[in-house]
Amino acid sequence: MTLDARFQLRVQRYGWDKAADHYEQFWQTQLAPAQARLLELAALKRGERVIEVACGTGLVTFPAARAVGPGGNVLATDISEVMVTRLKETADQQGLPNIATKRADAEALGVPEASFDVALCALGLMYVPDPFAAIREMHRALKPGGRAVVAIWGARSSCGWAEIFSIVDHFVQSEVCPMFFQLGGGDALRMAMTQGGFNDVVLERIATTLNYESGDDACGAVFAGGPVALAYSRFDDASRDAAHREYLDSIAEWKHGEGYQVPGEFVVASGTT
Ligand SMILES: C[S@@+](CC[C@H](N)C(=O)[O-])C[C@H]1O[C@@H](n2cnc3c(N)ncnc32)[C@H](O)[C@@H]1O
Repeated sequence: MTLDARFQLRVQRYGWDKAADHYEQFWQTQLAPAQARLLELAALKRGERVIEVACGTGLVTFPAARAVGPGGNVLATDISEVMVTRLKETADQQGLPNIATKRADAEALGVPEASFDVALCALGLMYVPDPFAAIREMHRALKPGGRAVVAIWGARSSCGWAEIFSIVDHFVQSEVCPMFFQLGGGDALRMAMTQGGFNDVVLERIATTLNYESGDDACGAVFAGGPVALAYSRFDDASRDAAHREYLDSIAEWKHGEGYQVPGEFVVASGTT
């Protein structure tokens, strides 16, 4: 792994540790259409063994664990220790012993080959330094005849909030999320999954709108609740104000009254081994 890739992993790991507290408040409703479609396409059955990559707080894990029932199980993995620790605590509180957790990089899950029926990855692949390696790793973890479903953000030109990355990059003089839109455009995700060994790859685009009640709400979501959280945590007050202003300017065309309705796009793809 290159130095750059190691740096990206650390930015994501510790960034999402910081974002964990704010994540569901800002993102649960906004991501629901992609997560729901991913679960529909996965068509989980009772008794299946599922591995989830980049599980976050468990918005996909919990419905998946209920769908496979007590005879099945979900191994929820994520690079962030805070995310997997919280997820396990919630699983225990909810009485779901069929959820296990593991802190793992999507590129090296550390699970035996051919040990799962289904692999799921919702809104995680954009942060991985080598998403092609992560796709191959899901393929490796699946049994023959297994299924994978992946959801990512779509094309940069369809995501009205896309300027957040260049705004933050300019303050920290580095790239906090260089691969974010790499697979979102055109047929890129289908090609990546096919190259990773998957068959019968089907890809769908879902247009969405991110609804924010206020500028504070819009800024909270992108600065504190997501992948730039580590960089943002180091901004002084003046830099925070300046970055907020730049970001709100970048989404000004979607301002309605006090709130914002920002366009976005998801891509969901499924394939079999
Ligand atoms: C937007 S959240 C998605 C969480 C969850 N899948 C959901 O749908 O709500 C992105 C997650 O990707 C995780 N992540 C980022 N880079 C990763 C990597 N290299 N390997 C595994 N997980 C990673 C983050 O820690 C974070 O929890």
